[in-house]
Amino acid sequence: MWTPVNNKFGAQVLTQLSATADEPSRLVGLNQYGKIIASSDGGVNWHRLGGSNKPLTKSGRQGQKLFTEHCQSCHGVDGVGETYTLEALTNKNYIMAPALNGSAHAWHHTDEALVKTILDGSQRTERMPAWKTKGLDEKDAEDLVDYIKSLWDKRALECQGPKHMQCM
Ligand code: HEC
Repeated sequence: MWTPVNNKFGAQVLTQLSATADEPSRLVGLNQYGKIIASSDGGVNWHRLGGSNKPLTKSGRQGQKLFTEHCQSCHGVDGVGETYTLEALTNKNYIMAPALNGSAHAWHHTDEALVKTILDGSQRTERMPAWKTKGLDEKDAEDLVDYIKSLWDKRALECQGPKHMQCM
């Protein structure tokens, strides 16, 4: 029997799932990017396991707070992206909030370009507003970028921006 326990899976798809009988609330899965994700509450909340992430800097921690408050509702926990919904899958004009971890293409942009997108928003959809009109300033956007980059792996960090073409 399957019952829904959460809808915060973002753009991830489970390709493998494992559980043990002696600790049923502990689940370990593999997403389509080959990253291990785990849940300690029976699948309600999921987090990346391990990874090459450096501890957060002061600015990264500040960015994480802002992210949880303003961005996570669309871009997902740990920046995994927006979860597929019936609307997203059936309305061709619906633009999903992309993953901001290293799995989509946020790392193809320079820090400056990311800061600009955050402050000025998207031309294509009002769902990604200009955050400078919603109380965030340039320092906040830089903190957010620091946090977002803490979610990237080494390759994305080394290949960020115009260099990404050489790393494909
Ligand atoms: C209501 C939903 C929503 C919220 C909240 C939201 N975004 Fe977005 N965001 C989007 C959508 C949708 C897009 C895609 C826009 C496009 O493709 O033109 C996007 C795009 C972006 C991009 C560009 C990513 C890329 O790969 O080019 C960045 C960076 C971003 N958002 C950061 C943030 C940050 C930081 C916050 C919080 C301050 C935030 N967003 C809050 C919906 C949202």
